[in-house]
Amino acid sequence: MPDVQPLRHALAADALRTLRDRHTPPARFREAVRRLTALLVAEATRDLPTSPVEIETPLRKVMSRELTARIGIVPILRAGLSMVDPFLELLPHAEVWHLGFYRDEETLEPVAYYQKLPAGRPVDAAYVLDPMLATGGSACAALKDLQTWGVKETVFLGLLAAPEGIARVQAEFPDTRILLCAVDEKLNDQGYIVPGLGDAGDRAFNAAT
Ligand code: PRP
Ligand code: URA
Repeated sequence: MPDVQPLRHALAADALRTLRDRHTPPARFREAVRRLTALLVAEATRDLPTSPVEIETPLRKVMSRELTARIGIVPILRAGLSMVDPFLELLPHAEVWHLGFYRDEETLEPVAYYQKLPAGRPVDAAYVLDPMLATGGSACAALKDLQTWGVKETVFLGLLAAPEGIARVQAEFPDTRILLCAVDEKLNDQGYIVPGLGDAGDRAFNAAT
């Protein structure tokens, strides 16, 4: 199995510090998620296919390149929603296909409550967005839906992960690329990433109960 290397970037380290800090208010939390996602997306899409195209500048014709792949962004509700806008800033023509899962608090298994993938015509590459990769259950459930849809290339983009979640995704979906900002120590008994940042959905949407 290939190693998953956390993003090495000073801006990522600083934004991650903001996310982890329990005193960060929701607006600043969302803003740090946006900055981190932009850095991840730039890295994840570095080698997307492009084709030659002739264009005219105000001075003359010149050969240029354009993106050709049909890209799908697949946020896992809720927390993945906070990563959609920064992705669309960089790839405005991407399609957004939502998947809803929440974790059962007892079993920690994902429960599906929304699935909006069309029948047929799968995208060329799908980017699953979720800030947290904990047990890996939600990521694997999303990747299974994408496999059923027929997507050949899948990438998981997350902010924080536990080693257990990475191992599960790698075991079940060995061809899926995983890009993360950081890999933490472990999961605690409640399935939370330690040291982590707490509940990403609650913190992003100011919805702690
Ligand atoms: C969080 C997170 C992931 C999932 C990760 O969502 O955003 O989707 O937990 O855990 P896993 O790897 O063990 O599946 P949660 O289920 O809390 O739903 P929410 O985004 O609505 O808060
Ligand atoms: N989901 C979260 O939001 N945080 C964790 O630490 C684990 C799962």
